[in-house]
Amino acid sequence: MTRPRGEMASPVAAEWARSRSTADTTTASPPATALVLADPAPHLSLALEESGTAVTRWHRFLSPGQICTPWPPSGPFDEVWVRMPRSSLEATMLLHAAAARVPDGAPVHLFGAGDEGIRSAAKHFPAGTGEVHPALIKRHCRVLVAARQTPPPHEDGLDSWQIRVPINWGTGPRDWTFYPGVFAHGRLDAATTLLIDTLPPVPAGARVLDFGAGTGPLAAAALERAGDGAEVVLLDPDAISLAAAARNVPAGNLVLARDFTGISGPFDLIVSNPPIHAGRAQSLRTVEALVGSAPQALAPGGELVMVAQRRLRVGDLLDRSFKSVGATADRGPFRVWTAGGPRMRRRNPAEPLRSNRTR
Ligand SMILES: C[S@@+](CC[C@H](N)C(=O)[O-])C[C@H]1O[C@@H](n2cnc3c(N)ncnc32)[C@H](O)[C@@H]1O
Repeated sequence: MTRPRGEMASPVAAEWARSRSTADTTTASPPATALVLADPAPHLSLALEESGTAVTRWHRFLSPGQICTPWPPSGPFDEVWVRMPRSSLEATMLLHAAAARVPDGAPVHLFGAGDEGIRSAAKHFPAGTGEVHPALIKRHCRVLVAARQTPPPHEDGLDSWQIRVPINWGTGPRDWTFYPGVFAHGRLDAATTLLIDTLPPVPAGARVLDFGAGTGPLAAAALERAGDGAEVVLLDPDAISLAAAARNVPAGNLVLARDFTGISGPFDLIVSNPPIHAGRAQSLRTVEALVGSAPQALAPGGELVMVAQRRLRVGDLLDRSFKSVGATADRGPFRVWTAGGPRMRRRNPAEPLRSNRTR
């Protein structure tokens, strides 16, 4: 079976790291320290460690064994490696951060797969790095390298990548903070807007969880229509999204997490526009985990209100966990689902699903 190309990026970078240390006779010893940014896979870091380099790993997304903060640790490091991220702007931002963490003359690497845009990625290196060379091209992946010559032009720090854009969900424009790589950068998503339009009233003193909060529009809209003393918890595994949410929803409680572990319920309302991708591939794993755990996290009478594309079999998933499931709004390709009343009995997998949908 052929693996998705992106999965080969870290093994190819590891191959280059190993081969340069055996082939390069001009370098007396391997770099003492390296910073690896945004690589979810272990191959490169293990290869560097095998050659005696102390590796610091940073990722904006919560990942085992990695520092997860809004901005990488300052170092300095002897060399730096960046895994090609999803967006060009994020690649530019991470390469700036990378180049700010090594001394002049040190190598800055960018590695990734062809279908992630690595072939045309040399343009993302900041001014102040020298000519970009492909160090290794293999299995549809590339390792690009350039030497830092002078400090990069942008001031070092997440805030120099902030944009503030007015967004409006019908109650007036408000300035919204975005950083590169967050969901719906620079705009309000159509599915999010539909869910906001159909949000139920939030009673005084209610506790609300925004699962997969991103920059925080659902949490902010819930707070806007909440009675006194309502509390909103924003959960997301992306430290940079939560940094934006901290600015957009200052009254919210931020939780860096990818599931309900460590979250203290119960909640009167859980709202979500959940992710339906893992990497580039469509995946309902997080939706399944949300729907499976939400009943235990809800207070008696509490509801899960979520939005998803209509073509996805979300209704069937909800039916397995909740007694009452309704499609409460449709617009374009999106549907809002409202579910409440946990099912107490475990369903026999041989039993056909029964629907209690109100529509
Ligand atoms: C479709 S976006 C919605 C963001 C925001 N609620 C909005 O409407 O603009 C999904 C969000 O889920 C987050 N996410 C990804 N994996 C997650 C997980 N396992 N648990 C919770 N959130 C996750 C992503 O970082 C992203 O911010």
